[in-house]
Amino acid sequence: MREEAERIRKQAGRELRRIVFTEQEIQARVAEMGQEISDAYRPDEEILVLGLLKGSFIFLADLVRKIQRPLQVDFLVASSYGSGKESSGRVHLLYDPEASLEGRNVILVEDIVDSGTTLARLLPLLEARRPRSLEVCALLHKRLARLDREPRWVGFDAPREFLVGYGLDYGENFRHLPFIGSL
Ligand code: IMP
Ligand code: MG
Repeated sequence: MREEAERIRKQAGRELRRIVFTEQEIQARVAEMGQEISDAYRPDEEILVLGLLKGSFIFLADLVRKIQRPLQVDFLVASSYGSGKESSGRVHLLYDPEASLEGRNVILVEDIVDSGTTLARLLPLLEARRPRSLEVCALLHKRLARLDREPRWVGFDAPREFLVGYGLDYGENFRHLPFIGSL
């Protein structure tokens, strides 16, 4: 256990309060989610998986490899957090997908739903592009807010702590950790 703690400290560069989801737990759940998503579409139905950068990049990379349907990948960049731990409440779209959404089955992939502001601002913008279907898949959900539209797929209910790792950052650090920890 001491060795494990030391390895984590070296990889993280500082002390984490605790590990919330281990690499094995995440991998098992992501595989399940890939199956759930595959089952929700007909075998010949194409999906456009839209990753919300940067936080979703590792989750998305693992998830799409577990989806057994024809699919394409594109990304959106929105920022609501700046570099700290508190949401600024504003959402800026810094990059828009090249792909047209019209008539397509779109899945927006988000790392974590916190206040829900990002989704609340983004979904109407995407809906306006007339996709055939639009669903949200979030790895983590803090269940803080009542959303008009809940994500169809959620990996884990998250504790109300500041989480890092597996794509999640604090000031751009810790995204590379293969597990999710609490600062
Ligand atoms: P929301 O708009 O408040 O739901 O926040 C969504 C975004 O804030 C996520 O996509 C994350 O990038 C960031 N975020 C929220 N909570 C955390 C956290 O605990 N750790 C790291 N990033 C977070
Ligand atoms: Mg972030």
